[in-house]
Amino acid sequence: MGARIIDGRGFAAGVRARVAEAVGRLRSGHGLVPGLAVVLVGEDPASQVYVRNKAVQTREAGMASFEHRLAAETPQAALLALVARLNADPAVHGILVQLPLPAHMDAGAVIAAIDPRKDVDGFHALNVGLLGTGQKALVPCTPSGCLMLLRETLGDLSGLEAVVVGRSNIVGKPMAQLLLAENCTVTIAHSRTRELAAVCRRADILVAAVGRARMIRGEWIKPGATVIDVGINRIEEEGRSRLVGDVDFAGAAQVAGAITPVPGGVGPMTIACLLANTLVACCRAHGLPEPDPGRAEGAAA
Ligand code: GUN
Repeated sequence: MGARIIDGRGFAAGVRARVAEAVGRLRSGHGLVPGLAVVLVGEDPASQVYVRNKAVQTREAGMASFEHRLAAETPQAALLALVARLNADPAVHGILVQLPLPAHMDAGAVIAAIDPRKDVDGFHALNVGLLGTGQKALVPCTPSGCLMLLRETLGDLSGLEAVVVGRSNIVGKPMAQLLLAENCTVTIAHSRTRELAAVCRRADILVAAVGRARMIRGEWIKPGATVIDVGINRIEEEGRSRLVGDVDFAGAAQVAGAITPVPGGVGPMTIACLLANTLVACCRAHGLPEPDPGRAEGAAA
């Protein structure tokens, strides 16, 4: 007994390598360099780490990285003016405003100001609507990465029972849309769901995105299920600080067929998908065919 461990770190490296190859072809064939602008407002330590990692990986993929750091007390009008400049800048194909924003800002208004064609987070209402109606959209990075891992693990997802625990706009809701588009039977569970353990036990695919350390127990998992753990929770245990997911890994790995570890599962996929979205946004802006870095060469279409 023991689940297959899904190697998100390795798969993400493959996605980044395929993005870098496509970027190389854009440069040599068309003289184009995809550009990603990342905006950080304030000094949230976790956000600073994410933003630094995004910039490093953007450059490693051969793309242009534009970093904008604004003080926490910056007026919202100044952030909106920056977004307007980035919208108009032809060297910028993707714009990401790191969340959370300081309390005096309205994240909805800021997201609405981003040109949907440059919205590489996939948070703009236009992209949300396109995804929900099965049209070509820019798709949020974390659920997009989860779907890549699921396809890699299971191949065709058609007809499978999928349970997504968590209903955030960033992960839960778009994840459910993506699974529906793969012909899964989808349930979104959340903090008010009754009999959560029994709901989870139905799942062939269980995606945990609740932000509560080890909330999902091994007994909640159907034998052989594929478990995708989106949680990144820092806890103190045995006198040291460590990162754990929303799933009790030790218990779940006894029962599941395959499971993502934390760290090294979903986490590395998110930035890889951000790079892939930036590449796709650049190709669309120039009317060029879109590569699909989420699929390994020779993988089933
Ligand atoms: N903060 C945490 N996750 C994300 C994300 O995917 N995009 C943005 N913009 N901010 C985040």
